[in-house]
Amino acid sequence: MNQTTTFPELRAARAQLPEPVGFVPTMGYLHEGHLSLARRAREECASVVVSIFVNPTQFAPTEDLDAYPRDLERDLRLLEEIGVDLVWTPTPEVMYPEGFQTWVTVEELTQVLEGASRPTHFRGVTTVVAKLFNGVQPQKAYFGQKDAQQAVVIQRMVKDLNFPVEIIVCPIVREPDGLAMSSRNTYLNPDERQAATVLYRSLTAAAEAFAAGERDADRLRAIVRDMVDAEPLADLEYISCAHPETLQELDGEVERALLSMAVRVGKTRLIDNFLVMNHAFSP
Ligand code: PAJ
Repeated sequence: MNQTTTFPELRAARAQLPEPVGFVPTMGYLHEGHLSLARRAREECASVVVSIFVNPTQFAPTEDLDAYPRDLERDLRLLEEIGVDLVWTPTPEVMYPEGFQTWVTVEELTQVLEGASRPTHFRGVTTVVAKLFNGVQPQKAYFGQKDAQQAVVIQRMVKDLNFPVEIIVCPIVREPDGLAMSSRNTYLNPDERQAATVLYRSLTAAAEAFAAGERDADRLRAIVRDMVDAEPLADLEYISCAHPETLQELDGEVERALLSMAVRVGKTRLIDNFLVMNHAFSP
């Protein structure tokens, strides 16, 4: 497994890779969620590139950039086991050299949900992903449904800017009790870890109600809200029942929806989502 830091090193290593090249961008501290993307890329592509970069521009000054967990040695070991060909670990200076001032902004999709509470977050994500794509020049890139809005925003950017890459969105990998895997789960103390299951439990309750015939967007949101309100260690930031592609909030009867939520458990902000769909519905 090769490891590169600078753009010239990356380009030289990339030029040697058989195509199609599959790419998995990450911020490291890898867990089974990340690894599922790398394994999928390994199955589908002749070469696999993974980037590890804790991207400062997608963190607000008040957020956890400095505390964000890092363990490069372990990450490299895990990627080697999967048979990844190339790991790109740029530094902040490589990505954002002196004088940097060009940003990629997806306008409307980033105003809602995560973007509403994190106004500069997606500008950082789309800018860094555009730079990562320009460096790696993959044929396919793998993203997790865990960050549902991120996947929608990246797909929009790729279409709007004609990046020659296919975006593949992979299912959420969960702990045995349903908690979606996240590097941020390491911040939770044991009581908070227990309380954090409320995201999965409440989304499951809403999805079960939907399966049993509940179609009203407000009532689906209320099922989640009531369960989170009943959990003393959890504070609901938002619960959304939105159109899965436009991310616009839905009213009344829904056929197909992205139920997504952000919850604070202690100081830790967690997100999760389910897609619900009426089986009689065909798009
Ligand atoms: P990071 O949070 O490290 O996640 C990297 C990729 O792993 C993302 O596509 C994310 O959706 C996916 N992922 C995380 N947890 C997952 C889970 N439990 N199941 C399935 N997939 C999961 O997302 C980012 O980094 C950054 O924003 C990045 C795209 C790298 C740009 O900096």
